[in-house]
Amino acid sequence: MNEFIDKKVVITGGNSGIGKGIAKKFDEEGANIVLFGRNETTLKQTCAELKNATYIQGDVSKIADLNHLYSKTGKIDVLIVNAGVAEKRTIDEVDEAFFDHIVDINYKGAYFTVQRALKQLNDGASIILISSVAAHTGYHGHSVYASTKAAVKMLAKSLSADLMDRKIRVNSISPGYVDTPIFDRRKSENPNYVADCSKGVPMGRFGRPKEIAEAALFLSSKRCQYIVGEDLIIDGGLINVHSS
Ligand SMILES: NC(=O)c1ccc[n+]([C@@H]2O[C@H](COP(=O)([O-])OP(=O)(O)OC[C@H]3O[C@@H](n4cnc5c(N)ncnc54)[C@H](OP(=O)(O)O)[C@@H]3O)[C@@H](O)[C@H]2O)c1
Repeated sequence: MNEFIDKKVVITGGNSGIGKGIAKKFDEEGANIVLFGRNETTLKQTCAELKNATYIQGDVSKIADLNHLYSKTGKIDVLIVNAGVAEKRTIDEVDEAFFDHIVDINYKGAYFTVQRALKQLNDGASIILISSVAAHTGYHGHSVYASTKAAVKMLAKSLSADLMDRKIRVNSISPGYVDTPIFDRRKSENPNYVADCSKGVPMGRFGRPKEIAEAALFLSSKRCQYIVGEDLIIDGGLINVHSS
């Protein structure tokens, strides 16, 4: 494609799973990557796997950490707002600390990841927010998580309106099941977790981080200049297809 050579791409949660897949994709395209996350070990490991990447350690739920990130990035061409957690509790089990934990990272974190970046974002930049199929249908035990992801999906539309005069396009991606460390605990509790969940996916398998990364690259590219405020579901048919 060549259009991302030396472009600055900032990826929150770029040190694991989907974010790491997106980092690899933009790295292959010659971009200059900045990873942001809390775990310095995986940040360092991921940088070592990439050709042109640095990292800043921090927590998206802390505005001071985001200010620190953007004091180091320089001008930004692509911002991938991906960091998130997906813990499950039914409504009767949710307490204030759990609610605040998920909302602080997934919603407040996403919001201020964009807001604190505004001075560094180039006009014409692309912002991709990672939402979820949980923003499209109800899943047991996911009331808090799903509502944060619905909020994130809505941000793609409302922030696009706010940033239209700068030609900054904001879009979201709603992945279905993607095999990443987010499921480590559930896999350790149930060794058949992936196989069991895959039965409910029309394509019969989990997605791969690189399949989300291809879409993030496409949505950020010049080929998509007329796509704005959109949400792209990438889920092997989970939401839209009934195969039996
Ligand atoms: N995998 C799926 O099936 C799926 C489906 C739909 C949506 N998603 C969404 O995709 C995104 C990535 O998930 P994943 O599956 O790739 O999970 P993952 O492998 O667990 O990665 C999550 C990433 O978010 C970062 N992160 C979490 N809390 C953070 C915080 N407070 N500050 C900074 N970074 C933080 C983590 O880094 P540190 O731990 O180093 O902070 C890690 O890099 C999430 O928003 C998730 O909700 C995933």
